[in-house]
Amino acid sequence: RLRIAVLISGSGSNLQAIIDGIETGEIDATIVRVISNRPGAGGLERARRHGIDTEVIDHRQFARRADYDRRLAGRLEALAADLVVLAGFMRILGDAFVERFEGQLINIHPSLLPAYRGLHTHERVIADGQRQHGCSVHYVIPELDAGPVIAQAVVPVHADDTPARLEDRVRAMEHRLYPRVVQWIAAGRVAMANRSVVFDGQTGQTPVRL
Ligand code: GAR
Repeated sequence: RLRIAVLISGSGSNLQAIIDGIETGEIDATIVRVISNRPGAGGLERARRHGIDTEVIDHRQFARRADYDRRLAGRLEALAADLVVLAGFMRILGDAFVERFEGQLINIHPSLLPAYRGLHTHERVIADGQRQHGCSVHYVIPELDAGPVIAQAVVPVHADDTPARLEDRVRAMEHRLYPRVVQWIAAGRVAMANRSVVFDGQTGQTPVRL
């Protein structure tokens, strides 16, 4: 079984969706640990409720990013994690870390990448008058939010949307998208080679759309 480590900073609703997917049998994998950089992250409690080991590695206790990344990498190696799932992990990981785990490190981002990298995506989408928005699951490479996209889900933007309402709509799709992608990886259907997604043996396909 695929050994997953999930990294969080916040409420952990995507973590919850993955836990649920494992418990219902949709995902054939084990979460070996949930690691948060924030002691108060709500997702820690979600993990505990399901009997999953948790750990806080507080970035404020490290003087330099590289020191933090080295500690995190050491923990993930000790856990023999096959896949590192970023689920609302709001720390930028340095190049050395990302290169060490390249091909084993995925992230979910609240936009239709390559559009709207970075933060405050829902506000920016509304401000630009876009009609469509969504979320993307991608392999992580050193350049931020620029790694090859595995799959996306699209939602409409309504004329009267607020950022909070749009965020809820996107988040609901994240909870459907992320467990699916994790299962594709667990089943060996998806991998990364030469910074391209390989899906069922085919390289460089356009991202799957839900
Ligand atoms: C999710 O919407 C995720 O896409 C976003 O944070 C939220 C975490 O929610 N991630 C990023 O913005 C990454 N830059 P959750 O803690 O409830 O899963």
